[in-house]
Amino acid sequence: MLKVGVIGVGSISEYHIRPYLEHEEAELAALCDIHKERLQEKGRRFNVQKLYTDYRDLVKDPEIDAVSICTWNNSHAEIAIAALEAGKHVLVEKPLSRTMEEAVKVAEAVKKSGKILQVGFVRRHASNVKVLKKFIDHGDLGEIYYAKASCIRRLGNPGGWFSDSERSGGGPLIDLGVHMIDLCWYLMGKPKPASVSGSTYRRLGNRAHIENLSFYKAADYDEKRNTVEDLANGYIRFENGATLYVDVSYTLHAKEEAVTASIYGEKGGAEIEPKLLIVTERHNTILNMAPQIDHPEFDFQEAFYHEIDHFVQSCLGREKPLSPVEDGVEIMRILTALYESARSGREVVLS
Ligand SMILES: NC(=O)c1ccc[n+]([C@@H]2O[C@H](COP(=O)([O-])OP(=O)(O)OC[C@H]3O[C@@H](n4cnc5c(N)ncnc54)[C@H](O)[C@@H]3O)[C@@H](O)[C@H]2O)c1
Repeated sequence: MLKVGVIGVGSISEYHIRPYLEHEEAELAALCDIHKERLQEKGRRFNVQKLYTDYRDLVKDPEIDAVSICTWNNSHAEIAIAALEAGKHVLVEKPLSRTMEEAVKVAEAVKKSGKILQVGFVRRHASNVKVLKKFIDHGDLGEIYYAKASCIRRLGNPGGWFSDSERSGGGPLIDLGVHMIDLCWYLMGKPKPASVSGSTYRRLGNRAHIENLSFYKAADYDEKRNTVEDLANGYIRFENGATLYVDVSYTLHAKEEAVTASIYGEKGGAEIEPKLLIVTERHNTILNMAPQIDHPEFDFQEAFYHEIDHFVQSCLGREKPLSPVEDGVEIMRILTALYESARSGREVVLS
């Protein structure tokens, strides 16, 4: 039985807590949050007795084998390193850290500890992505040379820590772009990035004045502080010649919310968002093939159940982590280079 502690019990934590509670080989043994009332409420709701307000006390607990880190981005690295040094396995929410320096330190701590660290790239665990990966691994798409991903919120700055760059490290690029870039990069076979060019814009603010339209908000919503971009785009070249184009927003004068992600190879292409579709040709005819699966669209909850089960199996030594720390570092390299390119107005060369 793997005994787990969840650190940070805000919005996303429930997607970790429930799969642990329902897992036959895991036990949710402790919770931690700096927000005392929220911690106690979650403790009562999920019947967890061990409640810590300081993560240092939780990682010292000899009963705990592993932790899920669901805190603000600025504490991911610090908590991950402390947990690894205390001999715990770690599942850390995306992004791995707030900066590249922190990411490298986490990677060093993983190496030293010999423990498992899984980065919360939850989209890799979605069943539509698993199906597509099988087709890719069997060569059905050939070499993938182009990908394009977009996650546009017309109104969706979550406020609170998300919009405070000190705590988040940035806006939609580090928050939403991290998923879109990782998804494409993973399906492209994780090519080495060669250079990036990006732009960020802060033209609309958080538009907290908009009425009659609801949107996702952080657990401690506060619209007063907003130091992050509201739109970002990027163009990434890889050493193998492949390229990826991405754009993401917290707010934009767009007609509606839209998430799209496509990859294109020499033998076939695929749309992952909004819905899995595989494109190819046979006998001089183009085919758009719709896989008949339970979840052709991204099922958020199901992906988290798969992610947590994979983490538990990895900690028990039965599986190899699908998203190891090196992948988190590589994605941080791309994200921080895109921000650097946006600041300087120049392309950033990575290799
Ligand atoms: N995988 C996904 O799709 C997904 C979706 C949403 C959020 N996230 C990630 O999950 C993390 C949390 O996001 P959220 O939406 O739950 O935020 P949230 O604000 O709702 O919750 C964060 C919680 O962490 C607590 N906290 C902050 N610093 C802490 C510390 N040092 N020690 C203990 N507790 C601390 C806060 O008090 C709060 O209760 C972020 O890194 C975010 O990027 C991932």
